[in-house]
Amino acid sequence: MDDIDRAVAVLARGGLVAFPTETVYGLGADATNADAIARLYAVKGRPLGHPVIVHLGDAGQLDDVALEPSHAARALAAACWPGPLTLVVPRRAGAIVDGVTGGRATVGVRVPAHPLALDLLRRFARGVAAPSANRFGRVSPTAAEHVRNDLGDDVDLVLDGGPCEVGVESTIVACLDDRITVLRVGGVPVARIAEIVGRDVSIADRGEIAAPGTLEAHYSPRARVVVAEPDAVDDRVDALGPDLAIGVLALADVALHVTGVTRLDPPRDIDDYARVLYARLRDADRLALDVVVAVPPPDVGIGAAVRDRLTRAAR
Ligand code: TXA
Ligand code: MG
Repeated sequence: MDDIDRAVAVLARGGLVAFPTETVYGLGADATNADAIARLYAVKGRPLGHPVIVHLGDAGQLDDVALEPSHAARALAAACWPGPLTLVVPRRAGAIVDGVTGGRATVGVRVPAHPLALDLLRRFARGVAAPSANRFGRVSPTAAEHVRNDLGDDVDLVLDGGPCEVGVESTIVACLDDRITVLRVGGVPVARIAEIVGRDVSIADRGEIAAPGTLEAHYSPRARVVVAEPDAVDDRVDALGPDLAIGVLALADVALHVTGVTRLDPPRDIDDYARVLYARLRDADRLALDVVVAVPPPDVGIGAAVRDRLTRAAR
């Protein structure tokens, strides 16, 4: 019996398994087991009615949980799965328990691109409901030790797949009534979504129609996060005053002139920024910093998702 067999057994008896994906670690439960889903919400500390993404092992299972997904949804699935894209599509009645979608008529679905996740999902064969494996509102985990530190014994098994390759969550795209709307920027750039569907897509990552939960401050470390463009860092640090322990997070090629601050291990490029973002915010807490002054990467590719998460962490 290997680790995946053990994980399948835990899911089958209604337990919780944390597993790696290419984006962040997920906290998984059997999407067809109401008791397992209730425990998932309790451990996560997540408000009921805040829907959870269903993870599948194969794009061919989309129709098991979705009801007549649109051409656009199928095109996005074909082009991006396995990968960091979540589709919100009409939900097939009875396929998963109501708690997973907070009673909505839609369901969020994705096929993650991580060999351990795919192995687990394919052997389990049913949908696995999984939010990011952190307590509600905290920084998402991108390594197995982050999950253990956050959730301790509340999770029955943690599969260790090493550090996550992408590092920020999936892009969420709603494909409903012929409209294509990005609800959360993430691992797949919005320009790539538009290219696949062959038309402009709207971004609604704020407001009522957006994914529930995206309004609150999120992704926050204990340290306060302040976002500053490169030429504003010195002034921001001065304004914070001498009594605070301050860290600066910026790309390696951003020159800093301020002294008396801790430079957090700098990301090499935009992709690396996404990969290490959450680990650096955790470093800030480990170093007992009061404030992190973060210089966002350029708004190119996955840089948009990094800027989004920093802005939310700063609220
Ligand atoms: O990369 C990811 O997406 C990670 C990994 C583990 O797959 N998961 C993740 O899950 O970020 P979570 O629960 O932290 O965020 C899921 C988001 C929430 O904002 C939720 O409101 C939205 O997806 N969502 C899920 N189902 C939805 C639905 N039917 N309609 C609108 N939003 C939905
Ligand atoms: Mg989350």
